[in-house]
Amino acid sequence: MLVGYATSSYALTTTEGASRFKEAIGTRAETRTTATPRAPVVRLAQLVIDLDVQFIPSTAPFFNTQFSHTKHTRWINCSDCHPGASSQGTGMLEIFAGESCGRCHGKTTFAVETDCWRCHDKLVRPGRAAAETDFAKAREAPVPGSPELRKHGESLFQGLCAGCHGKNGRGNGRFAPFLNPKPRDFTGRTFKQLVASDIEAIDIGLYRTLSLGIKGTAMPAWSALSPRDRWALVHYVKTFASGGF
Ligand code: HEC
Ligand code: HEC
Ligand code: HEC
Ligand code: HEC
Repeated sequence: MLVGYATSSYALTTTEGASRFKEAIGTRAETRTTATPRAPVVRLAQLVIDLDVQFIPSTAPFFNTQFSHTKHTRWINCSDCHPGASSQGTGMLEIFAGESCGRCHGKTTFAVETDCWRCHDKLVRPGRAAAETDFAKAREAPVPGSPELRKHGESLFQGLCAGCHGKNGRGNGRFAPFLNPKPRDFTGRTFKQLVASDIEAIDIGLYRTLSLGIKGTAMPAWSALSPRDRWALVHYVKTFASGGF
């Protein structure tokens, strides 16, 4: 759907060129007369298109991404991405390495390593009020660990967390080389929450970290997961710590 247009940076000097381009990508041409009347400059007004594309990685549907043409075509020409724009064979490793979306993001507008939520809307931090209600419930009725819950936590961890934390919690997942600070090694009793006096406070602390993420680091907010899922993860990550709890 076409919603409007903004003038692009293209400035062709012949009307033929302009009309070919117009035909090819559907832009509107404006003829402007410059200070020297003999050399008319044709400026193209690029259409801002209202076309959202959704990427749903087949191996990790939780990390779906919305790509908005409206946001991008206000400032960027179609030809900066087309031909060639494709999600085929692209994943986060390629994006971190500067391909696909990473060709621009990371260098401009926002940091790919710490602002996952900009592209993956399930990783958005919850609002203050929602977070407070959620923690009040969690404190009132903390869910104790059980073998079933830890098993559930393990499968969530392998799908959602191992990319950074590594499948054994050592902090050596495939994304880790791109991160600063890097995820710590969970196997050495390194949780910050260990300063808390009792196990319940440690659990709540971990639940809170999971729900809000850690600002300024790659650790996303996982509040889109149900409270049960988050408790399952809390109990599972503790199993990495040597000596147990
Ligand atoms: C910032 C990069 C970027 C810009 C600028 C851009 N596109 Fe796209 N476009 C994409 C990506 C990424 C896709 C998704 C490709 C895929 O499915 O793998 C896409 C897909 C499309 C599709 C196919 C949608 C579908 O259903 O597969 C059309 C049509 C399209 N773009 C037209 C345009 C036009 C016209 C412009 C300029 C007005 C434009 N694009 C500008 C990145 C861009
Ligand atoms: C600039 C946008 C952008 C940012 C920022 C971003 N991603 Fe992605 N991510 C994508 C796109 C696009 C795909 C889907 C590629 C596809 O399957 O078509 C994707 C796919 C994924 C996948 C599944 C595919 C894979 O390679 O494993 C995971 C997991 C993921 N992202 C995690 C993250 C995390 C964690 C962060 C923050 C550190 C992040 N992403 C930041 C755009 C982004
Ligand atoms: C050619 C450079 C370029 C490419 C490639 C590109 N972007 Fe962007 N993107 C931009 C620019 C510039 C903006 C800022 C637009 C604005 O401020 O309105 C932007 C804005 C965004 C925003 C909105 C940020 C906000 O907070 O409003 C998101 C989300 C985003 N891009 C995701 C993606 C994804 C996902 C891809 C890959 C499919 C991608 N971009 C590819 C240049 C690019
Ligand atoms: C995009 C990379 C990334 C992903 C994905 C990720 N984390 Fe993290 N995580 C980090 C980073 C970076 C830190 C901060 C450095 C540190 O404290 O180890 C962190 C910190 C943490 C901490 C805090 C440790 C402490 O001592 O306070 C916990 C717990 C944690 N992550 C659990 C998880 C769980 C569970 C998941 C999956 C639901 C997950 N993380 C997914 C990167 C990630």
